[in-house]
Amino acid sequence: MANLKVVIGTLELVNPVISASGTFGYGLEFVDKLDLRRIGAFATKGLSLNKRDGNPMPRICETPSGMINSIGLENVGIDVFEMEKLPEIRKTGAKVIANFFGETEDEYLEAARRLDAMEGVHALEMNVSCPNVEKGGIEFGSDPAFLEKLTSLVRKAIRKPLIVKLSPNVADIRPFARAVENGGGDAISAINTLKGMSVDTATRRPRIKRVFGGLSGPAIRPVAVRMVYECARTVKIPVIGIGGIASLEDMLEFLIVGAVAVQVGTMNFVEPGICQRLAEELSVWCEKERIADIREIIGSLKTD
Ligand SMILES: Cc1cc2nc3c(=O)[nH]c(=O)nc-3n(C[C@H](O)[C@H](O)[C@H](O)COP(=O)(O)O)c2cc1C
Repeated sequence: MANLKVVIGTLELVNPVISASGTFGYGLEFVDKLDLRRIGAFATKGLSLNKRDGNPMPRICETPSGMINSIGLENVGIDVFEMEKLPEIRKTGAKVIANFFGETEDEYLEAARRLDAMEGVHALEMNVSCPNVEKGGIEFGSDPAFLEKLTSLVRKAIRKPLIVKLSPNVADIRPFARAVENGGGDAISAINTLKGMSVDTATRRPRIKRVFGGLSGPAIRPVAVRMVYECARTVKIPVIGIGGIASLEDMLEFLIVGAVAVQVGTMNFVEPGICQRLAEELSVWCEKERIADIREIIGSLKTD
């Protein structure tokens, strides 16, 4: 059997397949669909200090090979996560990446400290695609200097591995990757959703109540592969590739351009057991190709 183990900071994964935040609930919703110990890890829905109800409906619509969502970071809040979800999650033996966000620097720090102290949370993933209420609503992840400072503050406040999840809604992602590395982040995950819009021509209304939403699914994959490639060439810390993964082939694309692991998002809605299937297919493929260790594939892109 090929060795599929990968390491992200001090986080060890049995294979490089992770289910993405916001598409896998708190893991518990999927226990009858797959064995959580057979995937690398799962990322929780984005958590904040206080519970959030999210945006008004409609907040999801289908698009060609994808979807637009404007859920508005609805979540149960960190207290309920700790008291009601985490004890159950611990019983599954899953590796847990707690995705989190805040609306102020202090909220980010406090959320990170709380999650860091929780037994059963193995790593933190910081979503920086959240409006900063103290800075006129611009996203935390849209200014490299600010991102570096936030990364550094959070890094110093916690002990567990810190993954920073980048937004693709920037002209050049490389300064942001550098900012995370300079701030001491252990890894980068990329990409979050691409800002999009869709209109119902019969009613002439936006299909999403809040007008804009985040585009995800196979439609975004080539953009994601390009951005992950750019990140992997820019920094030495591990990069986790996300965006439109629906098959073994898609996953291999990300690994070949330099991703150490991948996350599968939207396709969980189509096939709830997809992460386990892809992990098993990767193992079979490695054996067929006589690849002893997954690291032989990572970053093996040929450009000459
Ligand atoms: C319904 C939905 C909710 C999401 N919620 C979050 C979230 O809470 N935090 C986060 O960092 N990313 C969130 N994402 C982004 C995904 O984790 C992922 O980065 C993105 O969808 C691209 O991957 P995909 O094309 O495989 O879906 C969400 C995506 C979807 C579709």
